[in-house]
Amino acid sequence: MEVISKLFALTLLSCVVYINTDKPCAPKQFPQKESIVCVCNATYCDDFIRQAPEEGSYVTYTSSKDGMRFKKEVRNFQNDGKSIFRNTLSQMYKSLRHIFIKVMPPNKNQTTKIKKKTHKQNGTCYDYLEIDPSTTYQTVEGFGSSVTDAAGMNWENLDPALRYEMIKSYFSEEGLEYNMVRVPIGGSDFSTHPYAYNELPEDDINLTNYTLAPEDFQLKIPMLHQILNLSADAVHIVGTVWSPPPWMKTNDAYTGFSRLKREYYQTYAEYHMKFIEKYEAENIPIWAITTTNEPVNGVFNLATFNTLGWTAGELGNWILNYLGPTLRNSTFNKVKILTCDDQRYSIPFFFNILIKEYPEAINYIDGIAVHYYGDKIIPASVLDIATRNHPDKFILATEACEGSMPWEEDVDLGSWGRANGYITDIMEDLNHHVVGWIDWNMCLNTQGGPNWVSNFVDSPIIISDDKQEFYKQPMFYAMGHFSKFIPRGSIRIEVTKNKSSCRKPIQHVAFLTPRNTTVVVLANRGNARSVKVTCQGDTMFVHMNEHSITSIEFVTKKGSNENSSLDISDFIPDF
Ligand SMILES: *[C@@H]1O[C@H](CO)[C@@H](O)[C@H](O)[C@H]1NC(C)=O
Ligand SMILES: *[C@@H]1O[C@H](CO)[C@@H](O)[C@H](O)[C@H]1NC(C)=O
Ligand SMILES: *[C@@H]1O[C@H](CO)[C@@H](O)[C@H](O)[C@H]1NC(C)=O
Ligand SMILES: *[C@@H]1O[C@H](CO)[C@@H](O)[C@H](O)[C@H]1NC(C)=O
Ligand SMILES: *[C@@H]1O[C@H](CO)[C@@H](O)[C@H](O)[C@H]1NC(C)=O
Ligand SMILES: *[C@@H]1O[C@H](CO)[C@@H](O)[C@H](O)[C@H]1NC(C)=O
Ligand SMILES: *[C@@H]1O[C@H](CO)[C@@H](O)[C@H](O)[C@H]1NC(C)=O
Ligand SMILES: *[C@@H]1O[C@H](CO)[C@@H](O)[C@H](O)[C@H]1NC(C)=O
Ligand SMILES: *[C@@H]1O[C@H](CO)[C@@H](O)[C@H](O)[C@H]1NC(C)=O
Repeated sequence: MEVISKLFALTLLSCVVYINTDKPCAPKQFPQKESIVCVCNATYCDDFIRQAPEEGSYVTYTSSKDGMRFKKEVRNFQNDGKSIFRNTLSQMYKSLRHIFIKVMPPNKNQTTKIKKKTHKQNGTCYDYLEIDPSTTYQTVEGFGSSVTDAAGMNWENLDPALRYEMIKSYFSEEGLEYNMVRVPIGGSDFSTHPYAYNELPEDDINLTNYTLAPEDFQLKIPMLHQILNLSADAVHIVGTVWSPPPWMKTNDAYTGFSRLKREYYQTYAEYHMKFIEKYEAENIPIWAITTTNEPVNGVFNLATFNTLGWTAGELGNWILNYLGPTLRNSTFNKVKILTCDDQRYSIPFFFNILIKEYPEAINYIDGIAVHYYGDKIIPASVLDIATRNHPDKFILATEACEGSMPWEEDVDLGSWGRANGYITDIMEDLNHHVVGWIDWNMCLNTQGGPNWVSNFVDSPIIISDDKQEFYKQPMFYAMGHFSKFIPRGSIRIEVTKNKSSCRKPIQHVAFLTPRNTTVVVLANRGNARSVKVTCQGDTMFVHMNEHSITSIEFVTKKGSNENSSLDISDFIPDF
């Protein structure tokens, strides 16, 4: 009895179990930079395993500007006395059986959280959030990054051990558990030169000389093979053309004002088919294609790199009469067709016109792909409207990077602001029906390239100049706070903010996962705050340092939600 009461007292005081099985970040602070990067070399690379939560407890993972990276903690729900006693005692006994568990003495921070009233005396502001699992939204497709030629070159230059560490860091169970990839069909600006397939012979309407490029064999395919080998989940790959061979285009060039020549509409459909076939032959299944990268660029000459201009009407015609029938009549008829693949503004000004001019094209379109640039000024309501008008189509974010604006630094090693840019956009997208989020280049050099038009940008992983190590930037961890805890098939649920005393609003999003858990991601862009989260009578307290992000996971209560029968395949989206 004495043991039990001691345990109980200890539990009440501390309630925190630290698990130290992970390899921590090897931090490096670059001078005058906001936050740290984590350094990986051939013999050391940080990793971490998701800890399956047990009933009565919740697991939190925190990263922050002040240097935390996936700091893992297990706490018990702070319910009324009876349930605390019930939950924590059984939890303590279970936990003690694990060998890696250490119960830490209480420190000031935890004491604040346990004694419910303390945070009011303490000057920190607070938010009260309520999770409502009975209000459900979209089903998640996944998170990932892009295998560009530039990413492939940087990766290929590394020692094999380091190459392995990078792919493991992104795709494995010890890493971010990515499950999506975007791959350019031919070249993009992140190549050392512009190219396409079947450049010769010219005017080859039947594509008699279609072979993959050296970049495919030397860079992209080896990288994709290792990804498919190390990934914890099935990887869904999205292929996109930046520009077809110049002979198919009205301006006979890779860039500039251009359109597809009418006589090559069917050829361009076959151009996609052949890519799918060739990659399939290399054991790389293509899950979706988009209908050309950023079509608006080639209409208004907005970019210096490989583009193909499409007006909405022309694209509708091509999808309805060429691409759609060709793909759907082929053995690859399950490959999804995503349109737009441009900034959010392309939905009202492009997708809607496409559907108006060629209404039947919608039957071939599975979803809308959106890019990141300009999201700070283009309201997310366009995503809500698209979902309301086309509830059977999904929206996928297919490209994002920081440092792309002319006035921005290309690579900013250790920038928390850039992690925050990702966090803010992912939160906003997910809260507006987007089903997944694919980052741009998987890794770049310290210049932010290579890029044949010097359109250098940042990446979550930057390779050191001597190629002996790579740096995981705050953006890397920002991605992981979503990708690792929100697996494919997760269903977004409602979060209500009941009360707040904080100046900056807290950012939040929550999901029911196929792991039978509930995941809540919270981001704090302001000063330190205390957050109380309740879900079906269970209460959690989270202290958030200034500029931090926390992912919380706990077991979903059984039978508490009719809409979310735990068999995800039965789920019918509720829009
Ligand atoms: C690799 O990183 C580890 C951890 O930071 C360090 O101890 C080790 O010296 C590094 N190895 C080399 C070759 O730099
Ligand atoms: C407690 O709070 C201080 C100040 O915000 C922070 O530096 C420290 O890392 C926190 N400790 C824990 C264990 O959360
Ligand atoms: C409030 O509590 C948090 C967590 O213990 C601590 O980091 C912070 O410094 C406290 N604030 C004040 C004003 O005491
Ligand atoms: C076929 O393409 C290759 C480059 O991939 C080129 O070297 C060759 O000349 C082309 N063949 C013809 C007949 O144009
Ligand atoms: C392209 O293929 C079609 C069907 O096989 C054939 O009828 C046509 O003559 C070919 N065109 C050229 C230019 O070879
Ligand atoms: C996966 O890894 C195994 C063992 O290292 C290797 O034999 C196999 O070729 C790899 N497969 C791919 C597709 O890379
Ligand atoms: C298959 O091709 C035929 C003839 O080109 C076309 O009429 C039909 O609509 C296509 N089927 C689909 C599913 O697109
Ligand atoms: C929070 O707000 C919701 C909806 O307004 C309400 O049902 C719930 O009781 C509130 N929860 C708390 C803890 O105040
Ligand atoms: C989730 O719960 C259902 C129903 O209890 C069960 O059949 C399924 O195996 C569980 N899934 C996991 C990943 O635990």
